[in-house]
Amino acid sequence: MNQKNFSFNYFETEDYRSLDPADQDLVIRAFNAAGKAFSPYSQFKVGAALRLDNGVIITGNNQENAAYPSGLCAERVAMFYASSQYPGHAVETLAVVAYTDLARLDSVVPPCGACRQVLAEYQHLGNNKIRIIMASANGKALILEGVETLLPFSFHADYLKKAKH
Ligand code: THU
Repeated sequence: MNQKNFSFNYFETEDYRSLDPADQDLVIRAFNAAGKAFSPYSQFKVGAALRLDNGVIITGNNQENAAYPSGLCAERVAMFYASSQYPGHAVETLAVVAYTDLARLDSVVPPCGACRQVLAEYQHLGNNKIRIIMASANGKALILEGVETLLPFSFHADYLKKAKH
């Protein structure tokens, strides 16, 4: 048996205002979107803002439901809206932020597993790496250079083509 290794680099800053203006803009838009979340059940407000390869910026926030599983995360609201309105346009960068009025959140909030799978789908489709910026209300930010760092060994469309009949 051979032991393999998977490692990756990511960027961290204590102040997202040190990011370049286009990235800062996405983070601010994500915070604004989080403020409009519909999350009466968890009181957890998540915002996402993404930039497409045509420069269009789309935002989304979490939408909860009295039937809990029917709700949707901010990232998927934004990704699905982007794909529905601008099919074929690759996502260049996605910013995700979260906060709650119930407690102080000092750390960034990473996308959930289901959102990672959806991000993997669009990264594969667009054939470009989606940069992911996670920022927190106290200013911290992490930047990943592609979805594979969040979801290594992801399942994607090519595996369906490889299936033998
Ligand atoms: N949530 C997101 O919007 N994105 C994530 O990646 C994690 C969780 C939402 C779902 C739910 O409305 C609330 O946060 C608490 O789980």
